[in-house]
Amino acid sequence: MTLNLLVTGATGTVGRATLSALRDKDVHVVAFVRDPARAARALGQDVDLRVGDFSDEASLIEALAGIDAVLVASGNDPGMREQQFSAARAIARSEARRVVKISGSPVSIVHAARARTGADHLAAEVALRATGREVVVIRPNVFMQNFLDQAGAVAHNALPGPDGAPRVSFIDAHDIGRVSAAALAEPELPGEILEVTGPEALTWFDVAAIMTEVLGRPITHYPAAPEVIRQGLLAMGRPAWQVEHALQLSALFTDPRAAETTDAVQRLTGRAPSTIKAFLERHVDDFPPVA
Ligand SMILES: NC(=O)c1ccc[n+]([C@@H]2O[C@H](COP(=O)([O-])OP(=O)(O)OC[C@H]3O[C@@H](n4cnc5c(N)ncnc54)[C@H](OP(=O)(O)O)[C@@H]3O)[C@@H](O)[C@H]2O)c1
Repeated sequence: MTLNLLVTGATGTVGRATLSALRDKDVHVVAFVRDPARAARALGQDVDLRVGDFSDEASLIEALAGIDAVLVASGNDPGMREQQFSAARAIARSEARRVVKISGSPVSIVHAARARTGADHLAAEVALRATGREVVVIRPNVFMQNFLDQAGAVAHNALPGPDGAPRVSFIDAHDIGRVSAAALAEPELPGEILEVTGPEALTWFDVAAIMTEVLGRPITHYPAAPEVIRQGLLAMGRPAWQVEHALQLSALFTDPRAAETTDAVQRLTGRAPSTIKAFLERHVDDFPPVA
């Protein structure tokens, strides 16, 4: 029997990667989206859509009709905890057997008292487990895709980042998508908590050196104190909650857990996780030099 899967956060970084990985599997996939026209542009015309909003629980209940397994993914904003509580209540009323949740990075969960998103994800994990369904929690490390947000600085050959030379096992969101696709579609439960990391722990100095090699121009890492990062992000027009989130997380990178690597990608997908070099080679055009 073909599995029916619902992917929430479908237009987001992990949601899109999950949809893409599910194309290789013999499953029926439905994307839960807020804006069908925008979703069709982002995902292609051939994706089956159910329209709704996390804040509209009835729309979630409707979208879950006939669904066997659901991916719970949403953004980082301060509404996330309530959105995922709403998803948990709707799932408890559905016939879905399995829930796969994209949670926070392992350090943000361990230090949930110091990171708002870690605390929100932990609360959502508890609420989803309380549904009594099979729950697979994916705790990915920092996404390589975050470097794309620094294209403006990289255009000027600069890579600002946290001071103290912390090491982080950055993960390509495409690998997270492959892991979540496997966790949704495989009959065997792959584990209750999957810490998903890239293959190597790198400092921002290392990343700048790899960018130098891949982009063919000298990229310099500038370590920045938290106050400098705060002022820089605010000057770029980032909302206050996002700035606090970035600062809270970068303060945790000195924990050696941020550098740990796991075999989750290899074990669930049969492929080694992408290196940052391979990620950057795919994204050379996203880092043009200043004209
Ligand atoms: N970035 C990292 O380094 C990192 C590391 C570890 C964990 N994480 C976690 O990974 C998770 C997924 O991140 P991501 O980068 O894939 O997120 P994202 O790109 O910001 O995508 C968020 C998704 O949620 C949808 N969404 C937002 N509000 C919604 C609402 N009210 N109703 C329905 N859909 C809504 C968005 O839809 P629209 O297109 O309609 O806006 C979008 O599809 C986050 O919870 C984050 O905490 C991130």
